Amino acid sequence: MALVELPEALAAVRSSLLEESFVRATAGGRRRGTEAVADRPERVEVRPVLLRGVRHLQVTERTGPVVRTRNLRVQGPAGSVDDEALDALLALPFATWHAETAAGAVQVQVTKKGLATVGRTAATAGPGAGARPGGDLANDRRKEHLLDPGDPLFAVLGAGGDKRRQVDAFLRQLSAALPEGLAADRPLRVVDLGCGNAYLTLAAQRWLAGRPAGARTVGVELRADLVQRSTERAAAAGVDGLVFAAGTIADADPTHLLGGPPDVVLALHACDTATDDALARAAAWEAPVVLAAPCCHRDVQRQLVAAGAGTAASSLPAAQDALVSSPILRERFADVLTDSLRAAALRARGYRVDVVEFVDSRHTPRNALLRAVLPPRPAPAAARDAAQRELEELAASWRVRPAIAERLAP
Ligand SMILES: C[S@@+](CC[C@H](N)C(=O)[O-])C[C@H]1O[C@@H](n2cnc3c(N)ncnc32)[C@H](O)[C@@H]1O
Repeated sequence: MALVELPEALAAVRSSLLEESFVRATAGGRRRGTEAVADRPERVEVRPVLLRGVRHLQVTERTGPVVRTRNLRVQGPAGSVDDEALDALLALPFATWHAETAAGAVQVQVTKKGLATVGRTAATAGPGAGARPGGDLANDRRKEHLLDPGDPLFAVLGAGGDKRRQVDAFLRQLSAALPEGLAADRPLRVVDLGCGNAYLTLAAQRWLAGRPAGARTVGVELRADLVQRSTERAAAAGVDGLVFAAGTIADADPTHLLGGPPDVVLALHACDTATDDALARAAAWEAPVVLAAPCCHRDVQRQLVAAGAGTAASSLPAAQDALVSSPILRERFADVLTDSLRAAALRARGYRVDVVEFVDSRHTPRNALLRAVLPPRPAPAAARDAAQRELEELAASWRVRPAIAERLAP
């Protein structure tokens, strides 16, 4: 640990953020002697994203219950970014910064006297060791992708460039969601509910197998033909530690296959209320990490129609009815309402929930991702009760009984 002037410490963070092999950074805590300001973020997370093929830094700021995400474009291979925005971010009076690149991590802690300690750790063999960006600077493909695009998995899946980018975007989300120290001394236990053709399941297991203690994954899928095909593909691509089970999400019990309850629950584009089934299973297992990319939201749409939305007989107040009177607005609003209700239900179960962009909207219009993590210190009962009230009031105000409220009734 070196004690240095603060600008020097922040310059080290800045250069990590602009490294081509940058993986993730977080900042939090309030520096001593600084006042709490209502609209100043309490926590920030930065990660690299590719938007339409261009590198950006995605900055997610949490201020109380509000989460705001913005993207700063990184220009040129040397990585210059919107300097003013980056300077403003680094000027926020956080007590700590932690920035990770493929080469290692830099940890900055601001001292009482306004100086900073800077610690550096070299990269250990984490997930996808050898496949993390920048793991081999001579290899451009590895710099840009968490999973080497030359991995035989992609040939087995018949996945082209778009799919590979989608896989990469998903793995970055997964990487950002995994708390440090989770399952450090045993294989990480993962379940993918409604895994379909399983290309994300296969990619996740391939990448997570590179963790020091490896990983095991179970894919659950209703359709037996997909289970059969995915099993064959896993064998053909040499992805070990992955099994598939035919059955419904609501009845899924992968615990015996994983050797314990799942650490990570994935539910990616499971249809309609299958996402609610998945969230309910995840909460019952108290899974520390849940990533759910919802698909169609017909349940709430149907209930809005039943409430007379857009008709003279609407039971909704006029100002609300205006939001859902046309079918296209109703469809979009049902997406937002359903996912807001799901986020509140998970917060009522003690999860910290972000809704982030899953993959570039060019790939799919359904590109929201609910990212829920159980914090190490349980959320206070008052916060959980407030989230439950928010869920109930929101549902009542829209005259809906969302599937998630029934599945996660207190
Ligand atoms: C749109 S696909 C998504 C597949 C994959 N997760 C992905 O993102 O590429 C949804 C899959 O969920 C499966 N599914 C839907 N409802 C289910 C349920 N209740 N139980 C198990 N699987 C279900 C469907 O059979 C389908 O294969």
